[in-house]
Amino acid sequence: MKRLLITGAGGNLGKLARARLGHMADILRLSDIGEMAPAAGPHEEVVPCDLGDEAAVMELVADCDAILHLGGVSVERPWKDIQNANITGVYNLYEAARAHGMPRIFFATSNHTIGYYTQDKVLTVQDPVKPDGLYGVSKCFGEAMASLYHSKFGQETALIRIGSCFEKPVDRRMMATWLSPDDFIRLVECVFRAPMLGCPVIWGVSNNDEGWWDTSTARLIGWRPQDNSETYRAEIEAAQPCPPADAPESRYQGGKFTAEPIHK
Ligand SMILES: NC(=O)c1ccc[n+]([C@@H]2O[C@H](COP(=O)([O-])OP(=O)(O)OC[C@H]3O[C@@H](n4cnc5c(N)ncnc54)[C@H](O)[C@@H]3O)[C@@H](O)[C@H]2O)c1
Repeated sequence: MKRLLITGAGGNLGKLARARLGHMADILRLSDIGEMAPAAGPHEEVVPCDLGDEAAVMELVADCDAILHLGGVSVERPWKDIQNANITGVYNLYEAARAHGMPRIFFATSNHTIGYYTQDKVLTVQDPVKPDGLYGVSKCFGEAMASLYHSKFGQETALIRIGSCFEKPVDRRMMATWLSPDDFIRLVECVFRAPMLGCPVIWGVSNNDEGWWDTSTARLIGWRPQDNSETYRAEIEAAQPCPPADAPESRYQGGKFTAEPIHK
């Protein structure tokens, strides 16, 4: 493709994508509300933008062939922050995509859409959402927007419910939720290379022995995650005592997010 837009390019996954997805497009258009060091390199455009700014997002999306949408508030925060980036921002993004030829969207949704399910349940993508906070609610909104724009206009989106994408799992819950950086990059490649996409929900999780999610929809785009959190089990169990059985991180799929207050 000619131009791939990465929103949230200054964040954790955005930096990873910037470093490793240059081969996917002639030009990476990198956007964030915050800092995006270093300055634009060859085959890069750096375009600062607040997702909540309708006119700016309209301009941002022009001439893009695909969008890796990683931008937004990624944890529990006061409602006005979440509303600007994850509600108004998502509306702005989908309206801009509609106006500019409907480039395919990789939408980074989250396991916090279902965080209040207990860890003894195995979920499919058909199970109703059960968000564990305002952040989770905002991701449910994003999933609903993608579904609406697919049904009404044919806009394609991969709704990737990311578990925990870090270099390696850092706590016991992540034995089930870990998504390795390599599997994340392979997942983005599969989303943008799939001949047809539609609007599937796909769990963004590695091939971990432990898990709560039926990952069969990954096959729709030919993605086979290869890494396994078991590699780190001994290290994690040695470093961290097992939390009590009734602690949020032992009980709920969303872990500690279920214990967060409504931030003011
Ligand atoms: N990393 C994970 O394990 C994980 C898990 C589940 C979901 N996700 C989702 O994946 C995406 C990327 O995650 P991350 O870990 O890189 O998060 P991050 O917080 O590191 O990056 C998000 C980026 O979005 C930017 N942003 C915030 N508000 C904005 C606004 N109004 N306009 C434009 N940009 C704005 C931030 O400046 C930040 O650089 C997020 O949407 C997050 O919700 C990540």
